[in-house]
Amino acid sequence: MCGIVGFVGAEQAAPILLDGLRRLEYRGYDSAGIAVCGGGELQIKKSRGRLAILSELTHDGTDLSGTLGIGHTRWATHGAPNDVNAHPHLSRSGRIAVVHNGIIENYAELKEQLLNKGYTFRSETDTEVVAQLLDYYYDGCGDFFEAVTCLLNALEGAYALGIVCADYPDRLYAARKDAPLLLGYGEGASYLASDVTALIRYTRDIVYMDDGELAILSDRGVRIYDRQMRPIEKEHHHIDWEIDAAEKGGYAHFMLKEIMEQPRAVREATAARIQGGRVVLSDLTMTPEQIRAIGKIYIVACGSSYHVGMVGKYNLERMLRRTVEVCLASEFRYSDPIVGEGDLVIVISQSGETLDTMAALREAKKRGARILSIVNVVGSSIARESDDVLYTWAGPEIAVATTKAYSTQMAVLNLLGVYFGDIMGTVDYETYTDMVRGILALPEQMERVLEQGAAIHELAKRCAHHEDVFFIGRNLDYALSLEGSLKLKEISYIHSEAYASGELKHGTISLVEDGTLVIALATYGPLFDKAMSNVEEVQARGAQVLALTTGDRADAMAEQVDMVLSVPETEPMLLPQLGVVPLQMFAYYIALERGCDIDKPRNLAKSVTVE
Ligand code: G6P
Repeated sequence: MCGIVGFVGAEQAAPILLDGLRRLEYRGYDSAGIAVCGGGELQIKKSRGRLAILSELTHDGTDLSGTLGIGHTRWATHGAPNDVNAHPHLSRSGRIAVVHNGIIENYAELKEQLLNKGYTFRSETDTEVVAQLLDYYYDGCGDFFEAVTCLLNALEGAYALGIVCADYPDRLYAARKDAPLLLGYGEGASYLASDVTALIRYTRDIVYMDDGELAILSDRGVRIYDRQMRPIEKEHHHIDWEIDAAEKGGYAHFMLKEIMEQPRAVREATAARIQGGRVVLSDLTMTPEQIRAIGKIYIVACGSSYHVGMVGKYNLERMLRRTVEVCLASEFRYSDPIVGEGDLVIVISQSGETLDTMAALREAKKRGARILSIVNVVGSSIARESDDVLYTWAGPEIAVATTKAYSTQMAVLNLLGVYFGDIMGTVDYETYTDMVRGILALPEQMERVLEQGAAIHELAKRCAHHEDVFFIGRNLDYALSLEGSLKLKEISYIHSEAYASGELKHGTISLVEDGTLVIALATYGPLFDKAMSNVEEVQARGAQVLALTTGDRADAMAEQVDMVLSVPETEPMLLPQLGVVPLQMFAYYIALERGCDIDKPRNLAKSVTVE
């Protein structure tokens, strides 16, 4: 989703802005632009399409001279992706430039008021309204700080704003409400970004802005104000991610690199949390009494994080012997949820910034529930607003299609299940030790699955022509099929659906005809025979079947189906941890064969910060 960068310092701003935007490309965007202030004037360049076009247009930024500026990658919400709607947006005086992430909900009303005052608009965006409204207030009071304050009071909705005024050529303004924004502190320079990956090349000294705050950045540092415009001091965070972690490191795509990183990522997420055969969650502040007293358990998330929640439902219910509701955050937030004091809401999010997930968290918190989040990005909004956070420590994930974040979220959720189950007295000794042993063995087993890359690529070549695919599975295999299907459709644009095998007969089977590709997940031993029956059912209608099962059943499966993939045996609850890896690789190679833009699939964003 949209990206923001800002810079003020001694160096030329444009190349730094372009570099920052390049590092935000992974978030998904359709146009880009920069504004630089130099010689008391604002210079703006923007264009539809990839950042490379903007770089070319500005000769890598050298056409714009000045040491202060803002940049933006836009993911269209209001108005088509074109040059005019791209940010930054200028006020009518041409003295104010604004970049914005989020949605201004009352923009139509504000626009109407401004039209009545004689303002005209070039674009269809809500952001241009912000620039013109600021112009209006500034015209009225002549004080820019006061004008920004009035602006923020007038805006409803979500925003991360970067603002430059040519009358104050030494400072940048930044404001945040319900959209991520962070400040970077450098030597004689200050930075602004919506995502830390834009800044790690320049500084690791970061402050996360909170809702309602305003910041003024200059080459002498940053001043931050709270909602009442009182100056405040905030905690600084040191980012210890390696720059390499956000680079491709020789791989053709970030997605492939991140798939390959999973053994290490899962090891990091789990090894330090298992000591002497015991799960130790020292980052959890809940006491055993509080854990035993938990009422209802909800898991709330979006996208692949929600799919982790689906696996979590099966596993937590098994280990805790209590009902676990798994909810899409976008539904939960408006469902008047029956959640309150004593209940636990487990929020799962890679970015920690997904707007619907954040809103669901706040809804649950308002109703008195305790919030435990499983988050990758340290210091993100969801992490900061939770009562407890278990970080996944997967490092930066750049490809839009998540892989290592999914795996580490699941690993942490499994650890949590074992830990809670032990305290609640619902996990027996054997399951506890099998789970711990199984979790510790996962990285090495994942490595063995990754070795099948070439074979999976061959299968992908055979399957890349299909336009409709059905994933089927039962129980944990059903939960896994949701992720396998999403991976395939989001990067290859093949229509793909996931079904609980038992539901086939209630409709889906009518879509299976000669040659339809069905991907049958049959890793879960207790239901293997049922899975085989479903395979026969679709084969009887002419389906071509690719099955995923465990190594010990692969031969039996191979006699029945066209293509087989297998994963090593493990404790059944951990099978999705292994099963997801070949499905990710299958999706990756299919997309490769179809010539798709794998890391930046069309219309999708890495971090969805609008509703
Ligand atoms: C986007 C991403 C998905 C992700 C989902 C939820 O759709 O492309 O990969 O699963 O958002 O994001 P979160 O950061 O909350 O896990």
